[in-house]
Amino acid sequence: MTLSYGGKIYKIQKITSRMSSYIGNVSNIFLEYEKLWAKASQIPGYITKYEGLTLYMLSAAYSAMGNIIELGPFCGRSSVIIGQGMLSTISDNKLICIDDFSKQKSQTFPSMNNPKEELLKNIKYFNLEKIFTLYDMDSSAALNLFNKQTAGMIFIDSKHTEKQIRKEFPAALNIINSNGVILLHDYKNLHVEKKYSKWITENIVMQYETVYIKDSTPKYAGNGLLVIMQK
Ligand SMILES: C[S@@+](CC[C@H](N)C(=O)[O-])C[C@H]1O[C@@H](n2cnc3c(N)ncnc32)[C@H](O)[C@@H]1O
Repeated sequence: MTLSYGGKIYKIQKITSRMSSYIGNVSNIFLEYEKLWAKASQIPGYITKYEGLTLYMLSAAYSAMGNIIELGPFCGRSSVIIGQGMLSTISDNKLICIDDFSKQKSQTFPSMNNPKEELLKNIKYFNLEKIFTLYDMDSSAALNLFNKQTAGMIFIDSKHTEKQIRKEFPAALNIINSNGVILLHDYKNLHVEKKYSKWITENIVMQYETVYIKDSTPKYAGNGLLVIMQK
């Protein structure tokens, strides 16, 4: 019997009970995520289906290591996915969202003129109020308010400029747990000529262990999620 995964073929002699329970758990995660995505995708936002699946699974895993911090929740599409991932595990850590709503200019969703109100409505609808805190302020200034080693995961999706990421990434490193994970969304996009900027390449991609997640379906034309782990 063979199994093809990630472009590799694995020979399997026998399905053990441990393997079948693992496969069962993974199937459950997919089923739960399909139901969640059906609702979360109604929220105006930029995270795509499979980027969201990565956020969901990593949130479930890394919430055990500390709080999860999101920079740039906008209306909450990514936040509710992260929050539901956190609720699927036993942890009393918090989801901390930071957005300077005064900086919000949405060309994609011009009718969305009150994203803060929309975010709070969605947090309530997805039953996340008890784990949720919002800082309505600049992301890099807010990151400096937290103590070292207190975040298990930090998701960066705010203002995609070189100037901003150069403030946010060091501030994120300062508070992430040494086994935690930092994610960047959409940094290989038109703002930076469809590739990472020189600073991101030299200071992040070349310095850390990274995985790049991108939806291949044209319908989900996201610009990818960079998952950054410490070596
Ligand atoms: C691309 S949207 C985030 C989309 C959301 N994560 C999603 O997947 O639907 C970017 C958000 O970053 C916020 N933002 C921009 N500059 C910021 C800053 N300096 N500090 C905090 N938030 C900022 C904007 O207000 C906006 O809500």
